[in-house]
This record gives sequence, structure tokens and C-alpha cells, in this order.
Amino acid sequence: MNIHALLINRFSEALETMGVENAPIPVSRSARPEFGEYQFNGAMALAKQLRQKPRDIAEKIVEIVKLDDVASKLEVAGPGFINVHLNNEWLANQCELALHDPRIGVAKSPEQTVVVDYSSPNLAKEMHVGHLRTTIIGDAVVKVLEFLGHKVIRQNHMGDWGTQFGMLLAHLSDKLEQEVAETALSDLEDFYREAKVRFDDEEGFADRAREYVVKLQGGDEKCLSLWEKFIDVSIAHSEDVYKKLNVSLTRADIMGESAYNHDLANVISELKEKGIAVEDQGAQVVFIPELADKEGNPAVYIVQKSGGGYLYATTDLAAMRYRSGTLNADRTLILTDARQALHFKQTEIVGRKAGFMEEAQTYEHCPFGMMLGSDGKPFKTRTGGTVKLVELLDEAVERAGKLIAERDNDLSADELAEVARKVGIGAVKYADLSKNRTTDYMFNWDTMLSFEGNTAPYLQYAYTRVKSLFRKAGVAIETMPVDINIVEKQEHALSVLLLQFEEVVGLVSRDATPHVLCTYLYELASAFMSFYEACPMLKDGIELKVRDSRLALSALVASTLSQGLNLLGIETLEKM
Ligand code: ARG
Repeated sequence: MNIHALLINRFSEALETMGVENAPIPVSRSARPEFGEYQFNGAMALAKQLRQKPRDIAEKIVEIVKLDDVASKLEVAGPGFINVHLNNEWLANQCELALHDPRIGVAKSPEQTVVVDYSSPNLAKEMHVGHLRTTIIGDAVVKVLEFLGHKVIRQNHMGDWGTQFGMLLAHLSDKLEQEVAETALSDLEDFYREAKVRFDDEEGFADRAREYVVKLQGGDEKCLSLWEKFIDVSIAHSEDVYKKLNVSLTRADIMGESAYNHDLANVISELKEKGIAVEDQGAQVVFIPELADKEGNPAVYIVQKSGGGYLYATTDLAAMRYRSGTLNADRTLILTDARQALHFKQTEIVGRKAGFMEEAQTYEHCPFGMMLGSDGKPFKTRTGGTVKLVELLDEAVERAGKLIAERDNDLSADELAEVARKVGIGAVKYADLSKNRTTDYMFNWDTMLSFEGNTAPYLQYAYTRVKSLFRKAGVAIETMPVDINIVEKQEHALSVLLLQFEEVVGLVSRDATPHVLCTYLYELASAFMSFYEACPMLKDGIELKVRDSRLALSALVASTLSQGLNLLGIETLEKM
């Protein structure tokens, strides 16, 4: 059920009856419960057109709008707002329908094909915290889109090509004389450092490295097979991280930079033919007057270096064309940190001029801020190195394990390990997902692992609370009677929230903002806690009908929490 959409429909019907067509229908959530749950505030804007006072228009709308089934009360307030108070009977009814529906009442959207480019680590090095946000946020967005019925094509645009591979392959070739690739590459960070030292200091090595690049790009077989060995091991490292993170990416989703290599020359010749790219000091560049500086000089977007080499930008143009043309993407979402915003803005302008995308197809760069340490500086190890993701995740599980062991519980050692994993990984993911992605955020173990506040452990715990309620009541969720009756204000508030789930996932899919879902789940869990305090279920003397109605609401809370956490890629537990 999408209450927001329903109200918009009903208000727009009412306006049509009044002879007003195509007017904006501003319906928003009310700021305070005494103003009802939703508010229509379009009357003010119509005053001029209808030559009437806004309050009179609002009164008129209230008279004709068909909301008898949905609203218990409509009132005109202030200069001409219409407050909508939702009807308890209708709410109860909708909650019952949701409980009977495996999709908990969420309708599918008209299907779109959506390409989501996320994670996309550089294979020359180990995956580090810089790729945590894109991986986690991207995976949540993908799951929400799929839940809403869209066709999602994951594209892991791995950095598996480029000049640094010359240095890496020359070093690998030497190492393979003594050991196998898996051993040589067991620590990519070390491997990269060694190769770099040789490149900088060892005589003749840099030349060999350059030779390897030329050979690799020329399709030399020995070189290609070395490269394949390298990226194979490196991909396996990333897969370890994905598995630990419970992220849905597989090898089939990899469409790395190398996959576009064959098409880069075509991209350049097309840009030249269309007069979009021109020669400038030996390089091929596109001037972008739309992004001129203060003096009016157009931005310069290089698509081919003077030596003939291609760039990150060239690959992204080829990728754009492939996604719009071959994959038929209605939307392309790309998740990277905000420092790449200009690059994607330029790429979009150039690609559209070249006709690599249709007008209606969207190109949406979804930027995010950086992960900072508690000192407010970019997150680093104590010695100033980059933090490897695998190590960070292992530490999370270890810390969660210690915290759980301190709590009062009757978990076996195996169960404890399982809980520690779900809570530790859940905490890291949720800490990231719950922040508005556009801002930097501070990484802090204590807050993210806290059982209080907007955290994964709090939500996981709320879920186990509902589950244990059913165990104590001796009632099975699947077979219990569903007859909801809403009386108390906490029941009312809880049911409204439960029915807002669809509205919330709709926003996440539109804006690629999982934090909206996090905030919602936190509000839902908190509303459940208040309801639980105010509306007893297991106390003696509670009428069976009342108890069952409240249990039914609780069951819908459990399904909504579990569906929501599942979309965020966070696992739930039966007890903790
Ligand atoms: N490999 C890049 C990086 O680590 C991210 C790639 C994002 N996707 C793209 N189509 N450029 O920064």
C-alpha cells in the first residue's frame, strides 16, 4: 500500500471535479501527530487561478474529495492546509491484507532495465575501505530495485587494465620462476610495493615494464596469460570480501575496463567523425563549453593521449554506449566517491552529444562522501597505511563476539560465532548505509556496535524481541488468526508506519538512498517498543481477541523488519 500515492490520486480527482487540471498535488507527511498523518497543501497555489481565498478552496476540496474509507477526519488548518487523519478501520484492514501477502503489500513498479555499476575495485591492489561504501550501498540499491520488480544488471567495472599492469606483470613473471601465482600474489599490497620499488630503483626494470604494457595491449599471448593469472587471483581476493560482506556480486557481474578495450578505437573515430573530438597538442580532446570556467574557457576532456593511449574516460564512454545500446538500460546508476563527480558529468555531456544514449535513458552518478577515522581524517591504519577490507571485517566480527559473550544469553559456542558474524558484519554495513551517502562519515566501532540508537544490533535485537514474544505466547506466526482492531494511539502510530514501507522503498529506488530505509526501520522498531510497553499482550486478563490483534500487528512488524534488513543485505537472527 502506498498511502502517499493514493492520497495524490484522490486529491487530483477532486481538483479535476473542480475544473482544475494538471495542478501539482503536494501531499506530504505531517510534522506532528495532532495534524494527522498527511497534509495536502495545494490550496494556496490555486487562489489566483480560482479567484478564491485558499481556505475556501480547501473547504471545498474537503467537501468533494473521496476519502471516506481512508480518513477518519479531514480538517482545514492555517492558511489552507488540509490535514488527513487516517481511519483506524481502514488501517487495520490494510495491515491484514499486508500480512496475507508474501510481498507485505508492496506492489511492483512498472518494469525498467537498470544497470548498476558498483564496487568496481582496482585489481592491481587489495580491496580497501575506499570500496566499502560503493559495494554496500550499491548492493542495497540493487536489492531494492529487484524487489520492486525491475530488471537489474549488475556491472562490476573492475580496474583490470592500464599501465600499472606492465610493472606488475614484469614482477610476476620473475616471481613465477620460483612459486605459483597464488603464493606470489597472496598479499597484493606487498606485491604492488615490491614491484613499485623495482620500477623506481632497479636498472632496466622500468623499460621491461613498459615493454610488457605494449605487448599486453598488442595481444601478446604470454603476456595475456600472465595478466589472466594476475587478475584471477586478484578477483578471488575480492570474492572473499564479497562473501564476508554477504554481497550479491558474482564473477558473472564483472565487466571490467579490459572488456571495452576492443571498442576504444571505435569510440575515438566516431567522436572525431562527428566533430566532437578534436586534436589538441597531439591528443584527442573534447571541449565542453557547458562546463566553462569563470573566464569562459571550456572544460577540456581528454579521450586519447598524445602517445595514442586511452584513458579512464574513453572506457567510460564505451561502457555508456554498451549499457544503453546493447543492454538497453533505461537507467544507469554509477556509485563512486564524490571526487569523481566532475568526470561523470563530463562523460554524460560528451556521450549525449555523441548519441551514445537516447534522450530518455538516464545516466545517474550517485556520489558518496569519504569514510573518516575518529580524528576526522581519511580512514587509515595506525601506521598510516590503507586499511584492508578483509582485516576490517574480521575485526568487526571479533569485536561483536566479545560484546555478545558479555551479554546475558544461553548461546552455544557455534551459535555465538554465528551471532557474532551477523552482528559484526551487519554493524559495519549498517553504519555505512544509515548515513546520507552524500556526506563524509566517521567510522566508529563503539557507536556502530551499540545496542542502542540507529544501529544494526538495535534492529536485529528488535527483531528477536518480536520473535521471542511469539515463542512466549506459544503462537505460530504462520497459522495465527489475523483479525486486527486498532484502538490505542500506539497501535495507530505503528500501523501507519507499517503501511509506509512501500513509500519508503520507492524513495530508495528513485534516489539510490538506502539511509531512508534505515531511518524508517529505526522508527518502526522504536514504534514497536512503545507499542509493546503500552499495549500488553502476555499479561493476565488480556482478552484473547485483543491479544491476537496485537500479535498480528507484531507479526507484520517482524516481516517488515526482516524484509527491510534483507534489502539492506543485513541478516536477522532468531535470538541473540
Ligand atoms: N575503478 C574505479 C575506482 O576504483 C571505479 C569505477 C567506477 N565505474 C566507472 N564506470 N568508472 O575508482
